[in-house]
Amino acid sequence: MDRFRINGGKKLHGIVHVSGSKNAALPILVATLLTDEPCVLRRVPNLRDVRTTLKILEYLGKKVIYENNTATITANGTLKNDLPYELVKQMRASFWVAGPLLSRFLKAEIPLPGGCAIGVRPVDIHLKGFEKLGAVCEIKGGNVLIHAQKLNPAQIILRFPSVGATQNLLMCACLIEGETTLENVAKEPEIDDVICFLKKMGADIRTDDKGRLIVRGQKSLHGAEHTVVADRIESGSFMLAAAATRGDVKIANCVPEHNAILINDLRDAGFTVEVENTAVRVRAYEGDIKPVDVRTAPYPGFATDLQAPWMTLMTLCNGTAEVNEDIFENRFMHAPELVRMGAKISTEKSIARITGVKELSAAHVQSSDLRGGFALVMAGLCAQGETEVERVYHIDRGYENLEQKLTALGADIVRFNPDKNDF
Ligand code: EPZ
Repeated sequence: MDRFRINGGKKLHGIVHVSGSKNAALPILVATLLTDEPCVLRRVPNLRDVRTTLKILEYLGKKVIYENNTATITANGTLKNDLPYELVKQMRASFWVAGPLLSRFLKAEIPLPGGCAIGVRPVDIHLKGFEKLGAVCEIKGGNVLIHAQKLNPAQIILRFPSVGATQNLLMCACLIEGETTLENVAKEPEIDDVICFLKKMGADIRTDDKGRLIVRGQKSLHGAEHTVVADRIESGSFMLAAAATRGDVKIANCVPEHNAILINDLRDAGFTVEVENTAVRVRAYEGDIKPVDVRTAPYPGFATDLQAPWMTLMTLCNGTAEVNEDIFENRFMHAPELVRMGAKISTEKSIARITGVKELSAAHVQSSDLRGGFALVMAGLCAQGETEVERVYHIDRGYENLEQKLTALGADIVRFNPDKNDF
């Protein structure tokens, strides 16, 4: 399996262009199941999770052409309405095909997505919503069979603003005649991008003054073209890597307002952050990194996906910072690996306390999840000496051409596979 070898201690400098958002591209690709007409999606990042989603669309019966970050999805006969465990276990977001398949065929049989390293990750909010719409959800043999005689519009209040449940239920409601309202929905920018695409397909979706989504279902939706929004987690990750290496990096083709709270926290930590229309520049800074406490929350709060990279920055602060992970129950797996690199971190339930150190020291470390893996790469970029990061496949799920982008910013990072003796 691939590893990264990083010779750290170099300041990142230059410009990096952000890719399309993984967490918008995945649901938008799934939304193409709502029509038999061709859809063309641009700025689709070439990531492991995207390739898995394209495989799922092909398995279900779509014809997929994917080149130069453009995915062309067309009908290719009738769609299946079941998924094999093999595909679902690779990526829990595959569960989001349930909504479109249920609304089109009144039936979907999907393996329950298992948990993952960061938590149990149940789908109860999804299933309760489908039941509200008139479906019956039966769990047996690890699968959930969701079926209905007829689906009816409903008023659904999500007990938690789940991103996936919001998207799954929204896509399902688009083809249910009548008016469905979704309340206490997630407001992440990726949701806005999915709504933008659904509207281009002819969906009737509006937001009322209480922030509820009001969907008037249509008989059918048509094909559409769309360019995926910039990846705010990638842009935030590069801002943090620039800051931690005391570099000077311009993150281009991003949406600065999607990282508003991070930019604010970086400024509180002492960094100069210049914001342009579609770019953010994090300037080199030789002073002490001030400790800044963060608490993860649904958007526009501090993104849980940036908690791990933020923790790496705080390992170098001048004082003690607290990180509260309030979204997932087990999202500190990068902490013990950072401790092996000389960081001073103690964790207790959802709280991590980081006491800054002068510098980190290179080590062999293992990623356990996507964003924790990036946090370890960041630590390797800062540490003097040679760091090896194992299980790069986690990182490949969400960062397109990571080593190329970092190398272009002056980092010394190579990918290699010790099993193939390609050193
Ligand atoms: C999406 O996951 C993202 N994934 C995650 O990004 C992101 O961390 C998360 O939203 C929160 O922002 C994609 O968009 C593909 P949730 P999702 O449903 O939809 C609990 C990354 O690194 N919950 O908002 O699965 C759940 O256990 C990934 O790119 C229920 O209890 O997140 C969690 O504690 C990681 N029941 C919390 O809600 C449910 O039915 C947030 O989950 C659904 C969720």
